[in-house]
Amino acid sequence: MNKAVIGLQWGDEGKGKIVDYLSEGFDLVVRYQGGNNAGHTVIVDSQIYKFNLIPSGVIRGKICYLGQGVVLDPNHFAKEYDQIITKIDNPKIFLSSNISLILEYHKQLDKINESILNSEKKIGTTSKGIGPAYQDKVGRKSIKLYDLKSKKTIEEKIKSIKMFYDPILENFHESKINIEQTVEGLVDFYGKVKELIVDNSLIKKQFKNKKILFEGAQGALLDLDHGSYPFVTSSNTISSNVVIGSALQVDYKTLGIFKAYTTRVGNGPFPSELFDDVGHYIAEKGVEIGTVTKRKRRCGWLDLVSLKYSCEINRVNELCITKADVLNNLSKIKVCKSYNSKKYLDVNFSESNILNSMSLDETDFETFQSWGDIKDLSSFETLPNNLKNYILYIEEYLGIPIKIISLGPERNQTIIR
Ligand code: GDP
Ligand code: IMO
Ligand code: MG
Repeated sequence: MNKAVIGLQWGDEGKGKIVDYLSEGFDLVVRYQGGNNAGHTVIVDSQIYKFNLIPSGVIRGKICYLGQGVVLDPNHFAKEYDQIITKIDNPKIFLSSNISLILEYHKQLDKINESILNSEKKIGTTSKGIGPAYQDKVGRKSIKLYDLKSKKTIEEKIKSIKMFYDPILENFHESKINIEQTVEGLVDFYGKVKELIVDNSLIKKQFKNKKILFEGAQGALLDLDHGSYPFVTSSNTISSNVVIGSALQVDYKTLGIFKAYTTRVGNGPFPSELFDDVGHYIAEKGVEIGTVTKRKRRCGWLDLVSLKYSCEINRVNELCITKADVLNNLSKIKVCKSYNSKKYLDVNFSESNILNSMSLDETDFETFQSWGDIKDLSSFETLPNNLKNYILYIEEYLGIPIKIISLGPERNQTIIR
């Protein structure tokens, strides 16, 4: 069966690591949304791979596909591609011709959007131009990969885009769109990648009968519609977008992935956030620094209320918990089981003011005892009882089996139950 690996929190749950691990059993690994706002780190035999666009399945030589729901920055993709070919022979990477591009003005507009908001209203985006690029897609202005076949088409499109955006760019003292430079850059890019571009009719034939692993980017709580708007990303991150974003009409099971605690980069509500030494300790031990922006990730206890919501909106079939090793030496480990005594069905997660107004107290948490060193363990049976209790409590609360337990960043630090 095909599988979608979906982050259930605010991103950085370890999707890259788990996709690499699982991809052994699949033919094709597909990104279906997001862009280079994603940062997926994979470690295999001490070799570190950092991906923003290319699916992690590339390490095992799997066919990798970026579907039409992805937004692609040509300069960034070219760099990532050049890097990967130094590490992997003949990577099999394909790009949907229907992909919308992120160009320089999208990054400028991202910056402008943030600059006009006062500090508590800023989204804290990755500044990669994601929001403005999706805005153009919805606004029917995108330059698509298929446009790059014709210099004339690029020129025509960029001229009308310039008329639309130059007044804004000028108003905010940003450089105006340079038609010649943009067109030359895109023609040059097309020359480099044209062999990788495939259209939606071709992929249906080419990928027929292939076993597919979908690699989510971001997390369910950053979903444009289901997350705490406006502190969200600009795509649907949840599993129902798999088919639209890949244009592959297939059935699949959903593996939801979550950290043993919670992190968030950027702004927005975070009910179980820790502001004390324990929060700093987790950030340091878990190396919670964003791969894309190098910002410190905010840390907090595992939040089962939002996790239950994420399981529901993604129709999760099975779960994976990562980074339990980070908590091993804490004397007390807590999980949030309610918000001011409210359970998930009583909370509207898509309205940020509601989540912001939650001030949790002790009765909203369940406490667990330390589980000590676990990094060399390789089966569920050998885990310390305190960790087993933690896992069993979460499983019972969510009503979904935890099938994968990750105890370290290396590929082989993974337990299948
Ligand atoms: P993604 O965006 O969901 O792919 O996650 P990131 O790669 O941004 O962040 C997860 C980080 O945790 C990466 O640096 C991984 O190498 C690391 N990691 C993944 N699983 C584990 C784990 O079980 N334990 C520890 N200590 N680190 C992990
Ligand atoms: P991976 O795939 C964590 C966050 C940003 C910001 C919000 C909107 O590595 O889990 P954007 O640039 O998308 O418009 O920013 O979304 N964000 C992520 N946070 N992991 C990610 O990806 C993220 N991609 C975007 O920090 O709060
Ligand atoms: Mg990440």
